[in-house]
Amino acid sequence: MSDVEGRAIQTLLQGLGPGRGLAAGLAPGRVTLVGEHVDYVGGRIVCMAVDLSLAVAVRPSPDGRWRAVSAGRRVERSSPSAQGDIGDRLFAAAMALRLRGVATPPLEMGVASDLPESAGLSSSAALTSAALVAMLRLAGQAVSADELVATALVAERDIVGVPCGELDQRAVVHSRADSVLALDCELGSHWAVPWPWRDLCVVVAASGETHDVGGAGYRERREAATRACAALGVSSCQHIGDRWRELPVEIQRFGRHIATETRRADSAIEMLEAGDVQALGRLIDESHESLRGDYMVSTERLDAMTAAARQAPGCYGARLVGAGFGGSAMALVEREAAYDCAAAMAVISGQPDATWLVEPAAGLEVTAHDVVVDPASAATAVRNDPPSRHARPRNR
Ligand code: GLA
Repeated sequence: MSDVEGRAIQTLLQGLGPGRGLAAGLAPGRVTLVGEHVDYVGGRIVCMAVDLSLAVAVRPSPDGRWRAVSAGRRVERSSPSAQGDIGDRLFAAAMALRLRGVATPPLEMGVASDLPESAGLSSSAALTSAALVAMLRLAGQAVSADELVATALVAERDIVGVPCGELDQRAVVHSRADSVLALDCELGSHWAVPWPWRDLCVVVAASGETHDVGGAGYRERREAATRACAALGVSSCQHIGDRWRELPVEIQRFGRHIATETRRADSAIEMLEAGDVQALGRLIDESHESLRGDYMVSTERLDAMTAAARQAPGCYGARLVGAGFGGSAMALVEREAAYDCAAAMAVISGQPDATWLVEPAAGLEVTAHDVVVDPASAATAVRNDPPSRHARPRNR
């Protein structure tokens, strides 16, 4: 059992007292390398689960009431509804499982996390997914990886009511250690691309501005992007190409972002395969520029943090990560320069304790294979031809 799962159990026992029949689940957060805000319009994405995780401990409720404790907060209800508090994703996970036919009794739950909340690292998908894994263990049932993703999406979209795409849930489930995950959101396919650089890592720094995927900004972007695809008669932003120029002027910039961002994700896959870190870094910078200028989801602080990261020695590229409107910035950086790069971002954010050096980590398909079973996953296309060329560390 991991340390975080142990802490989730402690949280449950200390918050709600002793009880019987415990089960726990653990899920990672995610970082996007390139391919932000294209999941809901069928785009391509390069992302990875990270080695920061969140755990949920569950046990049957002794009196039929639903309870949850997390970081000093405690909620209780007579039925598992979403009410805008810490219980929402936990209770939604139980409701979504019931919709799938998994008998889930009233539950008591405890949460512990190394993942920062509302920092753009997918803590919501991790919370829902960890809860699902814990509940499946308690029920002694298994689902396929695709069913787990679908159940997490029902919980998030239909029950909690957040209009998200599928990036976070798929990254949390399908990622492989030592690899990044390529997602095609038109075809619903994914494959692992080996991470070619031992001497490089990703640094994440929270801006201190909390973001909200349920907020109006996200919903408006999603509507504009969907409108852009519909206006051009394409089923996915992968087919827009340069035709964003034909769009009505008020949605042109949104069309340009989704068209260029999915192309950048394709190029990023090629650069990972070629081991070209300079080019990957440029794509990361361009992704930020597009999210800032065209999609308008950055903030002054995220712009300043990414600019500071780019100035730091050993940094190849930096961008906001996740939905934007706050959250975190990430940088691709030489490992030996990672702390200085993190410090440069923290000077701007004023959050010296909210920086992380993260590594590509395995998702639930691998780490929870007792309850996440997928015959199809054995056939997942893992490209077995890792590039032989390794980047030579060089400063920009
Ligand atoms: C949030 C959403 C995802 C995705 C990203 C932006 O994390 O949950 O579905 O849209 O924003 O790439």
